[in-house]
Amino acid sequence: MTDSNKTATLTVHGETYELPVHSPTAGPDVIDIRKLYGDAGVFTYDPGFTSTASCDSTITYIDGEKGELLHRGYPIDQLAEKSHFLEVCYLLLYGELPVAKDLETFETTITRHTMLHEQMQYFYRGFRRDAHPMAIMVGVVGAMSAFYHDSTDITDPHQREVASHRLIAKMPTIAAWAYKYHTGQPFVYPRNDLDYASNFLRMCFSVPAEEYEVNPILSRAMDRILTLHADHEQNASTSTVRLASSSGANPFACIAAGIACLWGPAHGGANQACLEMLEEIGSVDRIPEYIARAKDKNDPFRLMGFGHRVYKNFDPRAKVMKQSADEVLDLLGIENNPKLQVAKELEREALEDPYFAEKKLFPNVDFYSGIILEAMGFPTSMFTPIFALSRTVGWVSQWKEMIADPQNKIGRPRQLYLGETMRDYVDIENR
Ligand code: CMC
Repeated sequence: MTDSNKTATLTVHGETYELPVHSPTAGPDVIDIRKLYGDAGVFTYDPGFTSTASCDSTITYIDGEKGELLHRGYPIDQLAEKSHFLEVCYLLLYGELPVAKDLETFETTITRHTMLHEQMQYFYRGFRRDAHPMAIMVGVVGAMSAFYHDSTDITDPHQREVASHRLIAKMPTIAAWAYKYHTGQPFVYPRNDLDYASNFLRMCFSVPAEEYEVNPILSRAMDRILTLHADHEQNASTSTVRLASSSGANPFACIAAGIACLWGPAHGGANQACLEMLEEIGSVDRIPEYIARAKDKNDPFRLMGFGHRVYKNFDPRAKVMKQSADEVLDLLGIENNPKLQVAKELEREALEDPYFAEKKLFPNVDFYSGIILEAMGFPTSMFTPIFALSRTVGWVSQWKEMIADPQNKIGRPRQLYLGETMRDYVDIENR
């Protein structure tokens, strides 16, 4: 934390308090209210954390006004174009781009941890076949704490490292097996000669009955999707992981909590909801009807894949995703994809509409990702599991940073209590 000499003055009930102000390396100054309750006897009120920094971090920075996303200082569009997912994982985890030898060691370590404990298959078999793959992932990742006892002691840096590697390495296998179980096909084991994205695609789409060649176009597109979702500073699921972990819970339990949070349609579940919405709209002539519904305060409908708490400009990930959608469909020879046409026209009409302009609502990462995933052959129910698989490295990096921070305290928000004050119990016959 960069301390400055700046202070903020707060007057409460006629008394004045000086509060320290911290200057970050980028972004707005932060007023430090940690001693406020002790000194002034008041809490602050910020449901949804719209103005509250819950931690300090050196991993990811977003400038929502400019539409800029940096991992350890590197812009996401450069990483998406020039880097690849495992290199970005290394960057997020260790703070710097790796030299060739370190990258090779890291890739080998991750590759060697991709298999699941054989007993975990039986755990899958306990689910109904029609279970949503996200439901399976929440359960299976939580169950990892029952399978990998030698990496649950969070006070041991070596165990933390092993848990991080296991999570990043096994998540593609866990997600692919959730899909296989859901479709009723046999589980496909990982293969160490394939890169991370190709291995995932093979575990999802190959069957024992015939040889499967991973299409390099799809593999590159999948790697880019993973890279674009890798981290996003203190979003809801990451904050969930940090809060769960603040009690000293084991890493697998914390990541399972993150997956559960990600599933919601306001967060990672938006990619599934967005594709379903594009399907429902069906043709460009119906767009005005849906735009009108999104603007109607009496209708709960929102344009999925639009709007963001932090971005008040284009989500830089959406720009890359849109370009990628064009490329993938083109390379696969899919012409005139109706959902892509509806998406592009919907984006154009919404951006011209004063409602969206005034509220600064732009397409987010989920707007175009579903179109690519569907073109690859994934059903909509797999979109959010793929988001979870990509975001695991972000959760793990933020978790590691938090555990290593000597200032780490259990997360325990306060409240503005508006309920009854103390009253006497009334016997049932007198109520
Ligand atoms: N369609 C129509 N109106 C919207 C939308 C939308 N998609 N998003 C926000 N608004 C309106 C909202 O009704 C509110 O209007 P008013 O000020 O008149 O009450 C205003 O814009 C501000 O919205 P908010 O809900 O207060 O903003 P928030 O920061 O709490 O919510 C959000 C952010 C992402 C949850 C929201 O924009 C949303 O629900 N979007 C659709 C779901 C979605 O695409 N989520 C993915 C987010 S990016 C990936 C990820 O994080 O996982």
